[in-house]
Amino acid sequence: MVQIRQMGPQIGVEVSGVDVRTLDDAGFAPIYQAWLDHNVLVVTGQELTIPEFLRYSRRFGHVTPHPSKSTRHPEYPDITLLGVNKFNPDGELNKSIYRRGAEGWHTDGAYDPIPFKATQLYALAIPDTGGDTLFASGYAAYEALPARLKARLDGVNGAFSYGGKRKTQALLNPEDRDVPPAIHPIVRTHSETGRKSLYFDPGKILSIEGAERAESDDLIAELVTYMIQPDGQYRHKWHVGDIVIWDNRCSYHKAAGDYPPEQDRIHWRVSIQEFAQAGRLAAE
Ligand code: SIN
Repeated sequence: MVQIRQMGPQIGVEVSGVDVRTLDDAGFAPIYQAWLDHNVLVVTGQELTIPEFLRYSRRFGHVTPHPSKSTRHPEYPDITLLGVNKFNPDGELNKSIYRRGAEGWHTDGAYDPIPFKATQLYALAIPDTGGDTLFASGYAAYEALPARLKARLDGVNGAFSYGGKRKTQALLNPEDRDVPPAIHPIVRTHSETGRKSLYFDPGKILSIEGAERAESDDLIAELVTYMIQPDGQYRHKWHVGDIVIWDNRCSYHKAAGDYPPEQDRIHWRVSIQEFAQAGRLAAE
C-alpha cells in the first residue's frame, strides 16, 4: 500500500510502497504534489536500471546533462556518477569527487541562465556510517527575513557563477570554465506553488546587482545568516534503493561529506529543467 509520510516540520516527505517503474499518471499525481508541498521527496526501496531511472526522472521535467563532463556516465551522458573514481592513480583521495556536494549549502545550477528545477539521486552504494544529505527550505529563509531586507531585495537580481568568488572549477573541462555569470532574482516566486523563496547560494553568488561593492558584500553576508532556519531542515540518511529529488527553486542542500573514504557512496544523479524553459532554450 502506498504511504506518504512527512519527514521534517516544513520540508521532506517519504513515499513507500510504490514501484516507480509501474506508476501511472493517477498514481504519480499525488507524489508530484507531495514533492511540491514539501520540497524534498524520498521514494524508498526501488530497484532500477539506468533507463528506468531516466524514464521516472523525465516525469518531473526535461533531463539535461550536467556541465561537469568528466563525471558523466560514459554511455548515458544525462547521468552524473557521484562517488566513482574517488582515488587518483597514485592512490590519493580526489577531494573534488569525495567532497562533491559537501562544499557548503547550495542550490544546483544557479550558474546557468536556466537553473535546474530539480536534482534527483538514486542510491547504489551507501557507507556504514555518515554520508547523509542535508536539506533546508528557501521558503523558510524568505519568511525569516526582516521586513527591511524583504523590501531591499524585492525585484533585485544576483549574479551567480559556477565557482563563485572562489572560482572552484576543478570538475569542469577548460572549455566550460569562465562563462559569464547568470542573473537571477534573489526573491524567487515559485512557478508552480506561487510561494516566495530566497534564491541564494553563498558559494556561487558574486554580487547583488545595483548595489555598491561594500553593500553587496554586506547583503550577501547577512543573507547567509538567514538562509538556514532550524524548522526548515531535513536530514536524509540514505539506504540503497532510495530515490531523492529536491526542488532547486525553493531549497538548499549539502552533502555531509563525513563518511569513511575507503567505503563506497555511489549515486546516479540527474539534473532536471522545467519543460517550458527547456523548450524556450531549444527555440533560442
Ligand atoms: C549534491 O550536492 O548535488 C549532491 C549531494 C549528495 O551527494 O548528497
